[in-house]
Amino acid sequence: ALPEKVKMVEVGPRDGLQNEKTVVPTETKIKLINMLSESGLAVIEATSFVSPKWVPQMADQTEVMKGISKKPGVSYPVLTPNLKGFQAAVKAGASEVAIFGAASELFSKKNINCSVEESLQRFDDIMKAAKEAAVPVRGYVSCVVGCPYEGKVAPEKVAHVAKRLYSMGCYEISLGDTIGVGTPGSMTEMLEAVSKEVPLSALAVHCHDTYGQALANILVALQMGVSVVDSSVAGLGGCPYAQGASGNVATEDVVYMLHGLGIQTGVDLQKLMDAGAFICRTLNRKTSSKVAQATCKL
Ligand code: HMG
Ligand code: MG
Repeated sequence: ALPEKVKMVEVGPRDGLQNEKTVVPTETKIKLINMLSESGLAVIEATSFVSPKWVPQMADQTEVMKGISKKPGVSYPVLTPNLKGFQAAVKAGASEVAIFGAASELFSKKNINCSVEESLQRFDDIMKAAKEAAVPVRGYVSCVVGCPYEGKVAPEKVAHVAKRLYSMGCYEISLGDTIGVGTPGSMTEMLEAVSKEVPLSALAVHCHDTYGQALANILVALQMGVSVVDSSVAGLGGCPYAQGASGNVATEDVVYMLHGLGIQTGVDLQKLMDAGAFICRTLNRKTSSKVAQATCKL
């Protein structure tokens, strides 16, 4: 059975923009986030408190957090890889954070410069500080079906890392198909393994659309009982440490599919498309959303 409601987690301002070659002006990021919040999205991942040497595009994280109009009822989580990032995030006014690990050793090394086990120790330090500050923490697992450096990833590895993050106190675990290689087949296998360790009600799916499988993957996840979906407006994005991977599934396309299934999202599709049109115009690029490209309207 499908869920009645789905919580959409918009990652465009973070995952969508982090891979842009030219630095996007802070004002543009702020306007995008404000437009997204006007569309009814309740969770908007705003930026990341990572090293500016690693990801220059996110160097204005504090200005972004201070510049946005925080809409009541909307949360604006940010990525924090370590205690330093966590402290800077709280200082900038973040009231929710996300830690991000991986099911693949080589990806962990390339992305956050430490082993999976070391990353879990760092995350434990963040968790302790977050509990003290009453800051909710979301946990990501990357490379849940495939890794750009190691190839196929075993579902048991994903289940192991997801379980560790959940037992540490993450309220939700987002399963990232970082390079968009999953199919409804491999997604189902992976979700079966993970749901033995973490309740389905605490799982989210985070699909990149490199192979055009994202909507199908999301649909099987919903059928299995997942009700939280990550996506990026206009399908922007990619991970700087996963070459060749394209953006997240477009939020517009997920919303269109969910509404077609009679599932509530709370999102106004037209306002969402306005936000997508704004960022594409500003970045001078074509949208990756099929819904935004479509000209025939029902
Ligand atoms: P490191 O070089 O090992 O860090 O990087 P370090 O602790 O050795 O410190 C080196 C320098 O970085 C020091 O500065 C620190 O102060 C500074 P220096 O003394 O040289 O001037 N530093 C920081 N500066 C700002 N903020 C911080 C911070 N920490 C240290 N938080 C580190 C380790 C984790 C920092 C680095 O590897 C990093 O920033 N990685 C982030 C990579 C990233 O953002 N990737 C994209 C997001 S993940 C993703 O997209 C996947 C996801 O979407 C899910 C999916 O699709 O699967 C979430
Ligand atoms: Mg991602």
